[in-house]
Amino acid sequence: MKVFVTYDIPDKGIKMLLERGCEVDVYKGEEFLTKEEMMERAADADAIITQLRDPIDREFIYSLKKAKIIANYAVGYNNIDVGAARERGIYVTNTPGVLTEATADIAFALILAVARRIVEADRFVREGKFVGWKPKLFLGYDLFGKTIGIVGMGRIGQAVARRALGFGMRVVYHNRRRLPEDIEHQYHATYLPLDELMKVSDFISIHTPLTKETYHLIDRERISLMKPTAILVNTARGPVVDEQALYEALKEGKIAGAGFDVYENEPELTPGLEKLDNVVLLPHIGSATYETRERMSEMVALNIIDVMEGRIPRNLVYE
Ligand code: DGY
Repeated sequence: MKVFVTYDIPDKGIKMLLERGCEVDVYKGEEFLTKEEMMERAADADAIITQLRDPIDREFIYSLKKAKIIANYAVGYNNIDVGAARERGIYVTNTPGVLTEATADIAFALILAVARRIVEADRFVREGKFVGWKPKLFLGYDLFGKTIGIVGMGRIGQAVARRALGFGMRVVYHNRRRLPEDIEHQYHATYLPLDELMKVSDFISIHTPLTKETYHLIDRERISLMKPTAILVNTARGPVVDEQALYEALKEGKIAGAGFDVYENEPELTPGLEKLDNVVLLPHIGSATYETRERMSEMVALNIIDVMEGRIPRNLVYE
């Protein structure tokens, strides 16, 4: 099997494919390939390992001559036209489960960083401005006793809920489908309609995939429901939140702060966002741990090996 990898990934999966006799073409450049360059290299590949920023649209998919599988190196697969792949009988797979804990950690890292002004305070010390302890220096917000509203209570949302309990927080959530009672009990979690969640939460953490239904789920009107002391963090996909509306709410002090790991027009930021002190900005590193990225690498390879050996791949994204 010939496998094309659109950007270099950790070794584990590549080794597994080589050991099974695959010919693996890994793009090792620093600059991203253009869509046209990717299409050219993918044209005669049997399998393609794609990244979440690759636009694997209908045109791309119809340009493939031999592909049997597109294995996305991510749990989200909104970059792929799954319908077009299905029409052509090409499997699409993702990497669920293995990045749950790492992503939940980053959501919490953002919550803490914004609430306790960690980045601002670090900058202050580096700039030599720390002259001694002061009673009102860098006051932030407690997590203990506060309400966290989790939007999207799948694997990652639940991992965030688990952490929140450890911090002594009350958990409310909104999900497309309400969770079974035993799971709600496990997290002491209360289901709320989304507007209600926006009103009562001190912290809001986004964990929905990006679909037609979730595009701008957190729109201007919903942002206006937030408490003036509330903090929103997004480690899911940027377009779930209306970034311009969030920026304006942050700038005008209508909400307390926000943490971003993802952006509406990634990697572009809404102009001015980088000038605000009440935001923490990360470069989409939710799953960026050595262990997790190795597991993701193994997982894309296992899906390709499934296809190579005549099985339906284990992480097929459509039924
Ligand atoms: C994903 O997998 O979808 C994350 O956004 C990056 O790992």
